[in-house]
Amino acid sequence: MIGVKRLGHVTLTTPDLQRQLDYYQAIIGLSVIDRTRDRAVLATKLGVETLVLERGDTADLSAIALQIAPGADLSDVGRELTSRNIAFEVRSDVTPGIAKAIVFRDVYGTPLEIFSDYTFAKAEKQVSGIMPIKLGHVARFVEDARAGAEFYTGLLGFRISDWRTTVSVFMRCGPDHHTVNVFEGQKPGFAHIAFEMKDFSELQRACDVLASNDLKLDWGPSRHNIGHNIACYHKNWDGLRIEVYTEMDQMKDEALGYFEPRPWHEDMPQRPKVWPAETSRNYWGLWGS
Ligand SMILES: [Fe+2]
Repeated sequence: MIGVKRLGHVTLTTPDLQRQLDYYQAIIGLSVIDRTRDRAVLATKLGVETLVLERGDTADLSAIALQIAPGADLSDVGRELTSRNIAFEVRSDVTPGIAKAIVFRDVYGTPLEIFSDYTFAKAEKQVSGIMPIKLGHVARFVEDARAGAEFYTGLLGFRISDWRTTVSVFMRCGPDHHTVNVFEGQKPGFAHIAFEMKDFSELQRACDVLASNDLKLDWGPSRHNIGHNIACYHKNWDGLRIEVYTEMDQMKDEALGYFEPRPWHEDMPQRPKVWPAETSRNYWGLWGS
């Protein structure tokens, strides 16, 4: 098994690279650490690569980078893939922080870039935009959620955090409740990416930054029932849905088998489970979208 430890960056294509660079720098508060005519690499102010933007015909997700244990031998990953008849290629100089990655497609056809060693970009102190602490998860609409659950748990070492009936699955590769989640029920493709804010006051500041740039929330802030993160959503200038969130459930010790107890949990302890169809998406209020 390939033991994924964390989400690295996602790659998004855009028809208007400069406009997206403006959005991600001035509003989200990321820093450009590498730039060519058709591609840019962005990192958080803390020096963690988060996003690769590439010029393309449409705004879409084109790759997900996932880190395995530093020092792990990527040839072992290659052997694992070969044993499962999964085609792959080895790429060099993926980003300034990733010298080498093994690239193959997941069960939905999305390229995954698996890397072991990462070099932090230089941290920056100046303030701009909402400045998330990290890219927390990537969500997609799919035809078959179970196929994703089997692929991500069976090959990549993810754990199931929660199901909503059989149509949505939330999977973790570290303490965070979900890093990769997939939903059935809409046209397959990009659903959203999510940036984590340090705390609720930072989330509030993020909402003010968005509003002052005429980016109105289309949902939230609300506390999800599944994952219990406080989340709000808007569409970026490419029309892609962006979530900013805080207070996501944490599985701090896998052996304990439950998420750190919180006053808003429905169960004590809150363990991974299958939530019924009527489960609200907003613990604080009415059903959300
Ligand atoms: Fe989300």
